[in-house]
Formats: sequence, structure tokens, C-alpha cells
Amino acid sequence: MTKQSLRLLVVTCVVVSWAAATELARVRQKGGVHVTSSTLKWVMGMGRRLPPHSVPVVEEDPSTVWCRVKQHSTYTAGALHKGVCTVPFINAVHTFDQDFEVLVSLNGSSRVLRKPWDKYQAPPPNAVAAEHHCLLALFMAEDGTAHAGYLEPRERRAYIVRGTKVVKEESASILVEDEPLRYDLRDIKLDGLRTEVSPDEVELTSVTLLNPGSTHQRIVEPATVTVRHLVYWGRVKGTLAGRNALVISPDGEQRHLVWGDQNELDRAHQLLLEADLPPGTGSNARVLATIRKTEAPYTGKLTSIYADGGRLARTIQGLHMDQRLIELRAVYSPPFYLHNKTELDVPGLSRILYQSTTTTSTTTTTTSTTTTTETPKTKTASFPEKPQSDSLSLGVVTLFSGTVPATAPMQVYFLLSSALLFFLL
Ligand SMILES: *[C@@H]1O[C@H](CO)[C@@H](O)[C@H](O)[C@H]1NC(C)=O
Ligand SMILES: *[C@@H]1O[C@H](CO)[C@@H](O)[C@H](O)[C@H]1NC(C)=O
Repeated sequence: MTKQSLRLLVVTCVVVSWAAATELARVRQKGGVHVTSSTLKWVMGMGRRLPPHSVPVVEEDPSTVWCRVKQHSTYTAGALHKGVCTVPFINAVHTFDQDFEVLVSLNGSSRVLRKPWDKYQAPPPNAVAAEHHCLLALFMAEDGTAHAGYLEPRERRAYIVRGTKVVKEESASILVEDEPLRYDLRDIKLDGLRTEVSPDEVELTSVTLLNPGSTHQRIVEPATVTVRHLVYWGRVKGTLAGRNALVISPDGEQRHLVWGDQNELDRAHQLLLEADLPPGTGSNARVLATIRKTEAPYTGKLTSIYADGGRLARTIQGLHMDQRLIELRAVYSPPFYLHNKTELDVPGLSRILYQSTTTTSTTTTTTSTTTTTETPKTKTASFPEKPQSDSLSLGVVTLFSGTVPATAPMQVYFLLSSALLFFLL
């Protein structure tokens, strides 16, 4: 290895270790369990320049932000001002102009509160920690100035820097991460939409219609198919999966979803399969589905809504996916004699049972599906006249969507998730 390439390698290692020195912050929950924050992280400080979205000690003074330093393998926390991180360390004030970390809000996604604490109570839930026994604390002096330090929960004491001294306080304000109750996503712009209609129709069920009688009859069989509609708006950094979210899709449709999850919005379609059959014949009816899958990166305005009504909006980027039914079709085989299975010389029939009413525009996707139809819709389709002496006709196909009671429903769960799951992983 040449000297030069060795030097390159060393430089690379340094860069990598610097980049790796950013760490998600941890917050202390009720009972003392620490969990990783979804919106706060520690990044290496860089002289006097504050990293973007540094978290101020108090909102009124953005030039003084939270910092931490590692000493003798433990962290202590304090305030960074003009490139100097000042922390209490036991009973002495220590200052650092390098090797300190700054608390930042991931893309400005975090909302922090300062909650009162005193030695008679446990730290408030979601207290931001520099490490396990070090919670970020500040003390407001009578003159309104803020002094930073940390709370040691076991000692029930806050160590606060006041001038050149460390003062032990029995009450303080504790920095806590506020978690949104729910999200609101709107102003969505889809970019580079890819739409794929499944090339093969998927068979959801098949039903055999039989006329064993001695007269010409209309045979009716109910069938229920459940088709899974999948909607996904992505896992976005700095957001909590599992919260309720209201999403207003580009076509204006509003939908309540679970944030960060693939939402499965199953919908049952109740169908009636009908055929006019001559005596002693049958026909196989297959129900086929056409599925459309859409994917697109998007940008949108995500608003976090907090318990106290507070709101925090930001622009996010994510990946949207949607997989839905666009058409259901029944395909009837030519009638056949029941006793010897010979097909009559009559063509089969194909009838559309359901069509999505959503726009198929390729510039915007939609998460809307047709809502359940309130009134049964009936469509009739006649076969062409059959020039045959036995006057067979598979005459009429009736279609209901909605309210037909299915006496013998055939539930078919149609799982399309594998491809999508693959994508998510
Ligand atoms: C955070 O911000 C950076 C730069 O502004 C951007 O590239 C990134 O996509 C953002 N991350 C999220 C999750 O929005
Ligand atoms: C089956 O039965 C029908 C009517 O009984 C008859 O017309 C047809 O030829 C039969 N087919 C065979 C293969 O025997």
C-alpha cells in the first residue's frame, strides 16, 4: 500500500467516525425506562456554528442551546453559547470548545416542553437524557435568566451552573419531548408516479350454477369476495408510527389512517351470479379481479398535533403506495350437460360486476375507493340470440353491489401483500 493511499484510508476512517458520532437521544419514561426518541438526536458540535435545528435551552434565546460532553465515560449536560459548552461536573464548572455534542431536532420535527420538577416528585415522563442518570434541567432565577445543568434522578437533585459555581437545586424545569397525538398530512404532491395494472386478472372465487330440474330456469348463486385495498404513506423520520393520521390525498379525498403503517382497508363485495340454464345443464362462473398498484415519492405538509392543541408543521418527503381493485368481472363458461359434461355449442359470457369509480388520472394518485354503495345497482346484459333449436340462453347476468344478503358467502381473502411487503423491507 502506498503512503498516499494509506493517508486516504486514515482520512476516510476519521470521516466515518465523525459521521457515526450522531446518536438518537434517549428519553426517560415513567418508571425510569429509557427509550430512543423519534425526533431528537445528538450531533457533534462544530465550533461556533450551531447545527441546524439545535434545541435552545429556553425558546427566548436561540443562541444558547443544549450540549453534552463525555468525561470519564459518563455524560454531563449543560448549555452551549458562542462555541463553548459549559457543564456542571460534580461540584465544578467545566467548559469545552471542542468534543461536545449538541441536541438537535430532526428536521425541526421535535417539540419540547419544560416541565416543573421538585425533589418530592419523579421526573416528568419523556425527560430528555444525556445519559441514564442525567436529565436535561434548567433553573430560572428570579431575574428571569435561565441556567442550565442536569437532574440526577437518584439523588433527587439538579446540578445547575450559575456563573462559576455549581448550585444544587431541589427544584428545576426538566426538558421533555412532547409526542404528538395525531398527524395531519395534506398539500401532497406526487412525483414520478408509477402505475402498474396487474397483467393477469386474479381469480377470487368460482361458483358452479346448476339446473338439475326438467325445465328451463334462471339459476342464482350469491358470492362474497373480500378485496384488500392497501394504502401506505411511508415511514418518515422523526414521526411516530401507529398514531392516527388524517390524510388528504391529491384528489381531495380525506381518509383516517394509522400513520407509518400499511393500512388495509378490506372491502367485501357481495355478488349475485345468475344464468338462465336449460334443463340438465350447468355453467361455471369465475370471478376475476383486476388490481392496480401505484407508487410515487411525494412531498407534503405534515402537521403534528399535540395534546394541548399545539401544532407543528413541516414539509416531509415519503413514499406512497396504493394497491386497489379497479374491476371485478364474472366469466361464465358455456353451459354443459350435467350427465356427460359435454359443452353446448354456445359461447361463454363475460360481464363486469364492479368498476372503481376513482379517477385513473396518471398525474395524481388517489387513495379513494368507492364507498359502499347504498342502493343495490342492477345491470343487465343480454346474450346475443342463439340460433339453436334447444334455444339455450345464458340470458341475463344481474349484478348487485352492496346490500344483497349472501346466504352462502364464499369468503375469499385476496392477499396482495407480498410484493408490497417486499418493497417495505
Ligand atoms: C430532512 O431534511 C433533509 C435536508 O433538509 C432532507 O434531505 C431529508 O429528506 C429530510 N428528511 C425527512 C425525513 O423529511
Ligand atoms: C351428451 O348429452 C347430450 C344430450 O343428452 C348429447 O347431445 C351429447 O351428444 C352427449 N355427448 C356425448 C359426448 O356423449
